[in-house]
Amino acid sequence: MKKLNNKLSVILLLLLTSCAQLRDSAPPARPWMNASLSPDARADLLMAQMTRQEKLALVTGFWGSPSPDYTPPALARHGSAGFVPGIARLGIPPQWQTDAGIGVAQQRSVQEKITRTALPSGLAVAATWNPEAAFQGGAMIGDEARASGLNVQLAGGVNLLREPRNGRNFEYGGEDPLLAGVMVGAAVRGIQSNYILSTIKHFAFNDQETERKSYNAVIDEGAARMSDLLAFQIALEQSHAGAVMCSYNRVNGDYACSNDGLLNGILKKDWGFPGYVMSDWGATHGPEDAARGLDQNTGVDGDALDLFGKRLADAMAAGTVPPARLDDMGRRILRSMFAVGLFEHPVTTDQGDIDFKSHELVSQRTAEESMVLLKNDQNLLPLAANIRSIAVIGGHANGGVLSGGGSSQVYPRGGNAVPGLKPTSWPVVYNPSSPLAAIRAHAPGAEVRYDAGTDIRRSARAARKAQAAVVFVTQWASESQDVSLDLGTHQNALVRAVAKANPRTIVVLETGGPVLLPWRSQVKAIVEAWYPGTRGGAAIAKVLFGDVNPSGRLPATFPASLSQLPRPQLQGGTVQYAEGAAVGYKWFAAHQLQPAFPFGFGLSYTTFTHSALAARVEGDALHVTFQARNIGKRAGRDVAQVYVAPVRGGWEAPRRLAGWRKFDLAPGAGMNAGITIDPRLLATYDTTAHAWRIAAGDYRLLLGTSSQDLPQSVTVTLAERTLKGP
Ligand code: GLC
Repeated sequence: MKKLNNKLSVILLLLLTSCAQLRDSAPPARPWMNASLSPDARADLLMAQMTRQEKLALVTGFWGSPSPDYTPPALARHGSAGFVPGIARLGIPPQWQTDAGIGVAQQRSVQEKITRTALPSGLAVAATWNPEAAFQGGAMIGDEARASGLNVQLAGGVNLLREPRNGRNFEYGGEDPLLAGVMVGAAVRGIQSNYILSTIKHFAFNDQETERKSYNAVIDEGAARMSDLLAFQIALEQSHAGAVMCSYNRVNGDYACSNDGLLNGILKKDWGFPGYVMSDWGATHGPEDAARGLDQNTGVDGDALDLFGKRLADAMAAGTVPPARLDDMGRRILRSMFAVGLFEHPVTTDQGDIDFKSHELVSQRTAEESMVLLKNDQNLLPLAANIRSIAVIGGHANGGVLSGGGSSQVYPRGGNAVPGLKPTSWPVVYNPSSPLAAIRAHAPGAEVRYDAGTDIRRSARAARKAQAAVVFVTQWASESQDVSLDLGTHQNALVRAVAKANPRTIVVLETGGPVLLPWRSQVKAIVEAWYPGTRGGAAIAKVLFGDVNPSGRLPATFPASLSQLPRPQLQGGTVQYAEGAAVGYKWFAAHQLQPAFPFGFGLSYTTFTHSALAARVEGDALHVTFQARNIGKRAGRDVAQVYVAPVRGGWEAPRRLAGWRKFDLAPGAGMNAGITIDPRLLATYDTTAHAWRIAAGDYRLLLGTSSQDLPQSVTVTLAERTLKGP
């Protein structure tokens, strides 16, 4: 027995010793890797282990693209937008940053090497009015980012379409804060569903590109809160984006990236944003920006490198930046990385597999759902498959479909379908998805001829010979420059000549946003296809031939003339946003202006009716119910819109979008729907009380198919109420 005891004690001793050895040889304990702790607790634990230098390393991001006098860090993804080194000692992964909201965009220096799937433009996604479509698109982008070894997506552009000539409207979510916030929020949620951190940008009022790095947006706080800032607030609530990118411009005098009121006051204090603020590329002006809410200086390539390096350390030593600020900066970055999952789900390769086939289908489906049928006299569309002849004219439709320029540019697989176009400030890129080829595939028995549209008389002759003519007109828009709403003398003359030659003329628009359509009364059908992405040509043909019943609705007003805009003359310098929160359709309604096509508008190949509108107040909540029905012969998707209007006025505009539902309805089918109205949409922001307040009184709930077509209404009475929270 004694021997047995001895043996057991030896075994026990050996076990204890080996455990101790294991423990000693085990990697250092990393309590911050305990995923059961909150992101904030994990960030605190990690920060406590970091040296000053390591904390400083977190708050500067390098350019990822080489330039003649700059070589990115070795670990940066070649051609990406940015790179923040990791800290291996503590298991902190690098932050590999890439653009943007339409797909994984590589900078122009290496565009030939890394091609990815392009969604339709952000404005096209907003035109679907389908948050699920936006989510799926974002999820696709996040998957391609992961496979490309990138874990921070510089997406989430949500600047309101306040200025229809803004060159970057195509990247954003339109003119209404609810629609833009919900749609962009869903897209960012999709990106982050891959454990890829996304931004929401450009905070705030970067609503034009003219003098974007210096112009001063002037707007009173109440109007700001009820317009652009509400879009950001909703998008952040919907997405829990890990970061916010502050913008280049000034807001009420201070640069956005050092705007204490915007960053510390509204974003971090009022809204309780727990993540971090990164600068736009080159938007940091000095280490003191850190004291005013900026957490990370990104996109530096040498000359601004030390702004948040040595110069920040000096500023903290001099007391111009509180030393504790650096801990808060680092903590915000780390807590977002924990919250989104960058530690548990590190990107491990930039050569990951990508299921391009399914991704291109996501892009095409979104494009199909985004297209807006603006006009369809005598039901010219859809085209019959047995049509005998079609003239396809202009828009490089034989090659592909247009996309927007700038840092969001995704370079397509198969290369640029129309290389070498001017300007080359940013490359003009056509996705190689030819509408002509797709149209031919839909009408195999037809004679489908292409005419480039360069010689108007020749184009008119081609149109005259055909049973129908499809004219493609384009407007290229890009970052760093604003656009004209005029499609140009040649394109306008081309449309007129073709329409004159053939009354069965259809115009397909490939634009970055609203454009002027002076010939709209002279053509029978108009389809807004936006920048339709990687499979845009196929999507256009499906809509033209009725395989897809168009269900896009305008996310922005199409003005009839520039004179209708708050600022007919686009300017730089100090831009007084005198329209305040009356953006887009609100401005038009407040000034009884008749646009060419209103916000929310879009036709279908079938007909929907709405009925049984009812509203009820339950405690603090306002619920609206109604029915939608498809009374036509073809299945389709309806977008029933609810607006709210105070009977006694007093708002920035007569009415606001308060909600919507999108339905798939078979012929004859009906659907009941209910919407609970976000109380902020019933309120005005009281800057004295620093709160949203609902005024007592009667409010009309309006139901219809656009901001101007609202035949049904009910009235409810609301009590005066100050909302809790921001
Ligand atoms: C650009 C853009 C921003 C982009 C960044 C990185 O200047 O304003 O949207 O994410 O730089 O490319």
